[in-house]
Amino acid sequence: MKYIVANWKSNKNSLKVGEWFEKIKEYLLANANKLKNLEIIVCPPLVYLPLGRKLRDAYKLPIKLGAQNVSPFVEGAYTGEITAKQLSELVEYVIVGHSERRMHLGETDELLEKKIEQVKNSQVKSIFCIQNAKTPIPQGVDMVAYEPVGAIGTGQPDTPENAKEIARLLKNEKKAPLFLYGGSVKSDNVLSFIKEESIDGVLVGGASLDPLAFWGIISNASAI
Ligand code: PGA
Repeated sequence: MKYIVANWKSNKNSLKVGEWFEKIKEYLLANANKLKNLEIIVCPPLVYLPLGRKLRDAYKLPIKLGAQNVSPFVEGAYTGEITAKQLSELVEYVIVGHSERRMHLGETDELLEKKIEQVKNSQVKSIFCIQNAKTPIPQGVDMVAYEPVGAIGTGQPDTPENAKEIARLLKNEKKAPLFLYGGSVKSDNVLSFIKEESIDGVLVGGASLDPLAFWGIISNASAI
């Protein structure tokens, strides 16, 4: 099984979410036989999760949903925070520790450890982002996504060889049950990453926003 994760970040409005699902539906339903070995996970902004879920279910799409953030607290007086248990009513996955949150929202290794603790106590699976082989990885994450900062949104992905080496290291140390690569993944390079046995999938930002570009990634990945 290979995992294709779409991280929409803070993009789209409800109209665009509707259009995206409408389009991806055409590609996915016409190619259902190609998708058997892929787990497609879409992570919209939180407010569009109910809409995404409604459309996913109505169109019977083989898509799982994910959130982009989770509270480090269990529940209670934490204005603005959404807990892992609340998320579990809407999503199967959550991205934790993306470098943009570390950079712009001051998320620290200690805070991320607390977030993972909460996720572990819920039905939701974690996709934990690391920036390099030295980023601390909390115990019990479900997937590690290696995303070197210089590769994010730059059109300059890391090499599959580097990604493979980090996957090997983390898997040997039993820190990553599943290993994803992220950073400038496009339809023309997705296969070079996921053809490696140790790379279980990709985390896609910019190229997941356009349904045709995202379908290109899925379609090429399905050749695995
Ligand atoms: P990108 O982003 O695909 O636009 O490089 C990846 C990410 O930040 O998850």
